[in-house]
Amino acid sequence: YAVLIFPEQHLGGDAHLAFTSLFGDLEISIYRSRRSPLGRLTNVREDGTVASPSSLQARMLAGNTYWHSDSSYKRVGAKASLLAAHVVPDKGGETEWADMRAAYDVLNDDMKAWLDDKTAVHDYEFSHAPFGGMEVLSKEELAHLAPVEHPVVRTHPETGRRNLFVGRHASHILGEDLATSRRLLADLTEQGAQAPRTYKHTWSPGDIVIWDNRCVLHRGHSWPDGQARTMVRTTVAGETPTTE
Ligand code: OGA
Ligand code: MN
Repeated sequence: YAVLIFPEQHLGGDAHLAFTSLFGDLEISIYRSRRSPLGRLTNVREDGTVASPSSLQARMLAGNTYWHSDSSYKRVGAKASLLAAHVVPDKGGETEWADMRAAYDVLNDDMKAWLDDKTAVHDYEFSHAPFGGMEVLSKEELAHLAPVEHPVVRTHPETGRRNLFVGRHASHILGEDLATSRRLLADLTEQGAQAPRTYKHTWSPGDIVIWDNRCVLHRGHSWPDGQARTMVRTTVAGETPTTE
């Protein structure tokens, strides 16, 4: 299984980190000076109030509502992510996953053949700049976020199963028309991430979910303005570039 849900575990930071370590090494944060590998995704400000939707803090979370694989803008994308709910809104704020192995399987043979040797450019700036927040990265941090290349059809290193490796960080296909291939990648993401290949989880405080970024996409769902939502995430580093 590529997504595992453990309800109401209420792990503290140390236990969350210890659980994460069972699956491999922690990934280095794009904020390279950050000391804790526990990433807080929250719209709650330091003073305890809820950030307004137009604030940088809220806008930087908004990108997560588009289908993606964590860190696919890095040369070695993430292996797994572990996301825990701390404070959840009354409604909304679900997280949804899409099985991109199944999405690959249902492509027609012509499309499978055409995609077989295609390479996508995944680009942090392409996917993040529209939401703001590039300015919080230092020059050195940005230098580590240059565009990278990944095969569009990825073979899972452990199961050998093929899957569609697309999502919001995938900008265009190498050697193809930019606008046309950008639209195709968006279509592959949108059409691939459809029922019955999706699962949407409604969070209770304390739930922790682990998923395999090498074969599923995920996205968050919005929730009513003014309500707090605090999640904590760790990321397990990938072991090999996607082509190996
Ligand atoms: C993440 C993410 C979505 C959410 O933590 O990587 O995309 O629902 N989260 O918070
Ligand atoms: Mn994510």
